Amino acid sequence: MAKPDELANPLREGIRLRRTPEPCAMAIFGASGDLTERKLVPALYYLTRERLLPAGFSVIGCSRTPYTHEQFREKMRHAVTEHLRLPGDESEAFVGSFGKGVFYISDNFGDAAAYDQLKALLDQLDQERGTGGNRLFYLSTPPSFFPVIVQHLGATGLAKPKLLGETWTRIIIEKPFGRDLASARDLNRVVTSVFAEEQVYRIDHYLGKETVQNLLVFRFANGIFEPFWNRRYIDHVQLAVAEDLGVENRGSYYEEAGLLRDMIQNHVLQLLSLVAMEPPATFEATAVRDEKAKVLRSVRPIPLDRVNEFAVRGQYSEGWVGGQKVPAYRAEPKVSPASTTETFAALKLYIDNWRWADVPFYLRSGKRLPKRVSEISIQFRGVPHLLFRGAGAEGIEPNVLSLRIQPNEGITLKFCAKLPGTTMQIRPVQMEFRYGDSFGAVPPTAYETLLLDCMLGDATLFNRDDAAELSWELMEPVLERWKQDDSTGLAFYEAGTWGPAEADAFIERDQRHWMRL
Ligand code: BG6
Repeated sequence: MAKPDELANPLREGIRLRRTPEPCAMAIFGASGDLTERKLVPALYYLTRERLLPAGFSVIGCSRTPYTHEQFREKMRHAVTEHLRLPGDESEAFVGSFGKGVFYISDNFGDAAAYDQLKALLDQLDQERGTGGNRLFYLSTPPSFFPVIVQHLGATGLAKPKLLGETWTRIIIEKPFGRDLASARDLNRVVTSVFAEEQVYRIDHYLGKETVQNLLVFRFANGIFEPFWNRRYIDHVQLAVAEDLGVENRGSYYEEAGLLRDMIQNHVLQLLSLVAMEPPATFEATAVRDEKAKVLRSVRPIPLDRVNEFAVRGQYSEGWVGGQKVPAYRAEPKVSPASTTETFAALKLYIDNWRWADVPFYLRSGKRLPKRVSEISIQFRGVPHLLFRGAGAEGIEPNVLSLRIQPNEGITLKFCAKLPGTTMQIRPVQMEFRYGDSFGAVPPTAYETLLLDCMLGDATLFNRDDAAELSWELMEPVLERWKQDDSTGLAFYEAGTWGPAEADAFIERDQRHWMRL
């Protein structure tokens, strides 16, 4: 719902209206979980309200908890009012329109009868709500159920389009896509034995973030940056994803995962591939995904016996975040008091190709850091010859281009300027672009973008089978070494600080420092 002032903004003029997907129905497996409530259903509701979804669009929740259609609708109505980004009382509208297309099936995921029931309901919706035989399955269950569900969908005949050539069937698979290379390969094998790769959409919600997509626009819709985007001009790149939250109620999941699996293997490596990729031939799924995969293929593998030169890990101890005292990771619910799971990691990677040879990429992510911020910083090389000496030169710092993914989305360029006055004094200053100020519109959430893309059959922002495996392959030696080392090398940091001192020492060894976030 565009506000009048949004329409008046000249920068928004000429924005292309999106296509509406063909009529379809979506079944969410794991519908009683957090993701459905906090992200998926609010996103679907928002898209419906913006008239971006087809008439008759229907959602079927499938999960183990027994609900009637009515009970599930009520739960989703509550989810929409609770979690939708835009304020206002939405419940009436929900009941009036979107809610009529919400259904529920109790399913323990392993029972063939539930899939027959699902098939019957989907056929019924085709008849009664005109969903046209197009189906989208969303797997948001614990990952151990992914293969089971995929196989049942195959056995029931639900994995194939209802009418070959005229209808489509797609599947979105949530993260984690495997927990190491072997399990990711196994999962790919099962999934692609039932679905064709073109039907499979492996989701990484970071790719749906507006600013992450803008990274491609920034690089490839502007002539001035690309000539500098290489080892000749760039000293190093930092990718930081910091969170102030702890593990909340996800202790048992996190104990199995740890930060490397939860954030770096997926989100941070996705950012890395977008920053480092070559210009694709076209802005189409295959071309973009080919280039991203090439980056991952060019990352220099970390030798198992040298992991400690390329990676550090930490775990938060108790501390203060946002004025609140917070417990140590080991004291969080469902976490072992002797846990060696990492909640912070920093890595140094090299990309062995012509563009990036010898340019280090520093990756850093952690929980219970002072604030939630994700930023990509490109630090350029210093000036080749220092013209200003003595007092003047003290303030000279290298140029840094920062792409802020969240919050206060925007782009900043740091450069040097003369301090006004009669003496030559130099200070770094910043040139800033802020999305909020320039466009004045609230961007869609990642899930809104990605769900719509999938319904439109656009896989550009989804992960392909090869990239999923390549990113696990890169993490293998680190995961293996940390498992072998157990608590040796695990550094502790006080919650509310920027990670362990070892992480500072790690980058300072290279005469560099972490960007202030
Ligand atoms: C998820 C991780 O994928 O991303 C969470 O499992 C993390 O642990 C979340 O908190 C961060 O996403 P965002 O969009 O809030 O940066």
